[in-house]
Amino acid sequence: MKNIYRFFVILLMCTTVVFPRQQKELDSDVNYDEAKVPNYTLPSLLVSTQGDSIQTAAEWVSIRRPQIVALFANLIYGVVPSPETPVATDYKVEEVNKTFMDGRATRKKVRIIFRNVKGRAEMTVLLFIPNNAAKPVPAFMELSFDDNNSAKMDVHPNHPDRLGNGWPLGEILKKGYALVTVYHADLIGHNEVDFDRSIQRLFYKTGQSFPKANEWGVLATISWSASRAMDYLQTDEDIDQSRVALMGHSKLGKATLWAAAQDQRFALAISAQSGCAGAALWRRRSGETLQKMVTRFPYWLCRNAWKFVNNEADLPVDQHMLIALMAPRPVYVAGAVDDHWADPRGEYLSAYHAGEVYRLFGKKGLPLSESPEPAQPILDRQIGYHIRPGGHSVADYDWKQFLNFADRHLKK
Ligand code: GCU
Repeated sequence: MKNIYRFFVILLMCTTVVFPRQQKELDSDVNYDEAKVPNYTLPSLLVSTQGDSIQTAAEWVSIRRPQIVALFANLIYGVVPSPETPVATDYKVEEVNKTFMDGRATRKKVRIIFRNVKGRAEMTVLLFIPNNAAKPVPAFMELSFDDNNSAKMDVHPNHPDRLGNGWPLGEILKKGYALVTVYHADLIGHNEVDFDRSIQRLFYKTGQSFPKANEWGVLATISWSASRAMDYLQTDEDIDQSRVALMGHSKLGKATLWAAAQDQRFALAISAQSGCAGAALWRRRSGETLQKMVTRFPYWLCRNAWKFVNNEADLPVDQHMLIALMAPRPVYVAGAVDDHWADPRGEYLSAYHAGEVYRLFGKKGLPLSESPEPAQPILDRQIGYHIRPGGHSVADYDWKQFLNFADRHLKK
């Protein structure tokens, strides 16, 4: 008995040495040690490209904000090219099921079809609208890893309150929100490298067959699809388009921040464990780095971003500026203690530094540069945050905070 016990203790010690932390990826050649984070200086939020100090909300809106949007577009995510040939858009409401989830919701399935002489592309949007709420309702638009045509978007076979993928739809409906889901890979592959079947081909100029170095990559395409889903919501009388929160996890947390940064129709943005190219600061080089990202996923960003690999100090932006583009709208950043690949400390610091711009609008950012303790959510400010124990996932705990934050900021 004693020997068995000893065996397990040794085994446990070995695994702790070999796998020191629960990580999303196995790479051991990245830094996870706070003491080894390099010294860095963040680019200024409130100094314009011309060197002028930005002192008012009006100056931010008219001068600095557009500069920062253009820098992110051209150097990080890629610009959406304006079409040489215009694209026509059709909405086809394919299904209206008023008895979804025992009659608690109406599930609508809408196909959005883009067409021009160069081709055709389409995405599917699902809406789950609470039947017992006064219309129009506020909504959570969720960028999703699950195909809207799959069983994961039906009622869970064993949990009548949840969707097949586990999302607590019952809770969301009970609180009076609609859930709108947008699948990330309808218009572009998860790790696209060809760009010959993606939405890009509808926008190519004559003779073009691949995005230019400053044109949209995978993340920007997902962000674009969130805006196209928003276009549809503006035609749907059940949804209050002025109260739509956009949310995404991980890859989709990155796309969420970029979508809401550009498209100010989103009233709130929630980025869960978005890490590198999401909320985490590039310059900390902690967990996933730019070099790691472009090695694994060469076109998640635009090709111009490659120029800054191992040279983050040269970037004229860092991710606190992306969060600041939400101002004065509410924004929420969520991390997890063991999600080291996503650099939870860097996620917090971005959210913290973005506060400078919120203050111009008379709004409160995060109070302290130290991260709060796990499971101590900050909900009462325009920038919200929590870190919880555990790893890379969206847990019920996270949903609860997102709904509470939305209640404070989106309810009339
Ligand atoms: C990889 C990638 C991350 C991303 C994650 C995810 O780990 O390196 O940047 O956030 O996948 O989307 O789950």
